[in-house]
Amino acid sequence: MKGARRPVIIDADPGLGFPWADVDDNLAVALALAHEELDVRLISVVAGNTPAPEGAASISETVAKLDRSVPVALGAQKPLVKPFVSGRELLAERVKGQAGENRPESARNPPALPEHLPSALSAQIELLESSRERPDMVCLGPLTNLATLARERPDLLLRLGSVVIMGGAIDHPGNVTPAAEFNIWIDPEAAGIVFAAPVPKILVALDVTTSVEIAQAEVENALCGGSPAAQYLVEGVRSWTGIWRSARGAASFVPHDPVALSYLIDPTLFESEPMRVVVDRDTGRTCGEREPSSDLQVARRIDAARFKRLFLAALSRIAGAGSADEARD
Ligand code: BDR
Ligand code: CA
Repeated sequence: MKGARRPVIIDADPGLGFPWADVDDNLAVALALAHEELDVRLISVVAGNTPAPEGAASISETVAKLDRSVPVALGAQKPLVKPFVSGRELLAERVKGQAGENRPESARNPPALPEHLPSALSAQIELLESSRERPDMVCLGPLTNLATLARERPDLLLRLGSVVIMGGAIDHPGNVTPAAEFNIWIDPEAAGIVFAAPVPKILVALDVTTSVEIAQAEVENALCGGSPAAQYLVEGVRSWTGIWRSARGAASFVPHDPVALSYLIDPTLFESEPMRVVVDRDTGRTCGEREPSSDLQVARRIDAARFKRLFLAALSRIAGAGSADEARD
């Protein structure tokens, strides 16, 4: 490995192992752990796709299946102001009636919550106070945990290198309402606080993430090593693509969170521009306009083919195939 490892905090709302929950946070963590140049120091969990204790159980299981050890901390159990409804409840409600056909295979025994998890706020404070380098943070769920840190210890935001955020829909329809993207819609107040926070930010919204689609078959090819970790990920992805098969016409998914995470691995995958982004607190809609002096960069385009190679090569390494080097072009 060349060069120093970059310290990273991942803040996420994982769902693998729970019925109707998106698995892309777990895949983003797997992508990070497959890249040695990233030093994942903490995974803090927030209420989003699942209630936070489920998310913590889910990601603890993922880290263990990947045979790694990363501290997991339990964060906000609800948004700052709005009542909480989890993504998996919303989805189950939306596809009610198809449940017989599309029943997720992840309705196996759900993972158990580990005992004695620290709080996300205290774990983030301790890490930022003690770290000699400035960690980057990547937020893959609602922004409640980072907004809470910004309220409690605004001084510590200056100790972050940058914040990469998966969220929002700028010139693109929403995915939870016609106007709003899920992570922002769940906690629009938190998003408003984070967008205004004095730290360099990169927003990876639906405009970019939805230009990437991964087929179940591509995941299975990449993970064909047969290791227990590979099997675990294949089954997790199958449960998610199975829900969407009839709606999308194919067993495939949009890897929102791995796309956002990949900014830390290779920012040249993206073209971005500085923008001012305003969040409507009532609807969760994100409106952006170009603002050259903004500390918020919005990803506008991604090299989807190159991202897919990076992502699938990481899965191959996890499966133990080892030979799938990323082609850099
Ligand atoms: C975002 O919402 C969640 O369902 C995904 O994990 C992703 O972070 C996409 O809108
Ligand atoms: Ca997420």
